[in-house]
Amino acid sequence: MARIEKWPRSRRLLKRASHSLPYGVSSPFRAAAPVPLFFKGAEGARLWDVDGNEYIDFALAWGPLILGHRHPRMVEAMRTAASLPLAYGAQHELEPEVCERIQRLVPCAERIALTSSGSEAVQLAFRLARAQTGRTVILKFEGHYHGWMDSALVSYKATAEALGPRNAPRAVLGSLGQASNSAENMASSCWNDLDLLEDQFSRQGDRIAAVVMEPVLCNSGCLLPRDNYLGAVREICDRAGALLIFDEVITGFRMGLGGAQEAFGVIPDVATLGKALGGGVTISAVAGRAEIMQKIKPGRVAFGGTFNGNPLSLAGTRACLDTLAERNGDALRRANQAGERIIDAVRDTASRSGIGLTVTGFGAAFALHFTKREVIRDYRDTLEDDRDLLGRFIRQALHEGLYLLPDGRFYVSAAHSDRDVDEAIQAVNRALAHVATSDR
Ligand SMILES: Cc1ncc(COP(=O)(O)O)c(C=O)c1O
Repeated sequence: MARIEKWPRSRRLLKRASHSLPYGVSSPFRAAAPVPLFFKGAEGARLWDVDGNEYIDFALAWGPLILGHRHPRMVEAMRTAASLPLAYGAQHELEPEVCERIQRLVPCAERIALTSSGSEAVQLAFRLARAQTGRTVILKFEGHYHGWMDSALVSYKATAEALGPRNAPRAVLGSLGQASNSAENMASSCWNDLDLLEDQFSRQGDRIAAVVMEPVLCNSGCLLPRDNYLGAVREICDRAGALLIFDEVITGFRMGLGGAQEAFGVIPDVATLGKALGGGVTISAVAGRAEIMQKIKPGRVAFGGTFNGNPLSLAGTRACLDTLAERNGDALRRANQAGERIIDAVRDTASRSGIGLTVTGFGAAFALHFTKREVIRDYRDTLEDDRDLLGRFIRQALHEGLYLLPDGRFYVSAAHSDRDVDEAIQAVNRALAHVATSDR
């Protein structure tokens, strides 16, 4: 049966925007949504599009909105900051105020450098690792995303064919126009596989400056590390004199106040932070051991940025961190508990209906995989997911009032109330029933 068009205004606006923005969007990742929607408002965990449809928001602007939309503390902080100077291009007191908070919360954060985007923070982390070790190669893992820059966009959404054999993985470029030698300074490995990593270190360990990873692989289906995997990688790095970099742009201030490093008790040399750090303002950071971070100074490790440490971003970040830190991290506990409730309910539905569905991740960041696999360890495993079924589920979920990321990921915030969770569970169940019974 033909559906009534729910998004005529969004479609018209996309058409209009496509005359002034490439593809009509500000990030092509966003164009992967079943319908690239235009929004006009949001509050808490609810979003409204320009056609007047309401959604429960599980995309949270791709992660930053850990307190939901328009949290009163954030609104107040931004109002006050807006009436003060927007930028100095020089030092001001909010810089140490925010960095001291990060020091208190994040175990590896002996010093912090403030940047504006996660992609940029990763560039600084790589440069620091090379400066510290005098080596060149950064070893990353398949399916892990560390931003869109030439030096990092390697072996992200590559095909199994391009990646080559598991025991001899190739570093695969991710974009047209990327410098053709970008992968020369990178090595790539399958995540969660210690034997393979040991093997790669035995062959070229003396060239590896750092191992970088998302400690929970959020960008390819929210996969958790195997028991003791992170600790073992830490040991391999130590033995070989390589640094360990955790890209905590997603896990930071989402998995817990101290990020994945605190949750798993494995402390990296350097971590990149972003997204939830600022609760929605433009901010990212590199946090690390003092000995490494102190290399940032004139004539040593070069680093800059017009908007580094700008007052507007730092005012929002301070409000976000203070709210998160209250009552010993109560906001994050609630976000994670809300997510756990949805995970439990989806698992329950899946097992009762017999639909091949595996849920991976943790409360505040999890993902649905339509697959017969019960255990998903790495990016290659996710290539067996039924993408067509996932696409139909996400589209149906949108009809049911759930706004999800285009890869089946759910982000949950402290603003998701019991009512939001109850409604979301019912909507997920209806969407699952729909895709289980409808024709392809
Ligand atoms: C783990 C991770 N690292 C780095 C980035 C890049 O951050 P940004 O989009 O702020 O440049 C992202 C973005 O999604 C990310 O998820």
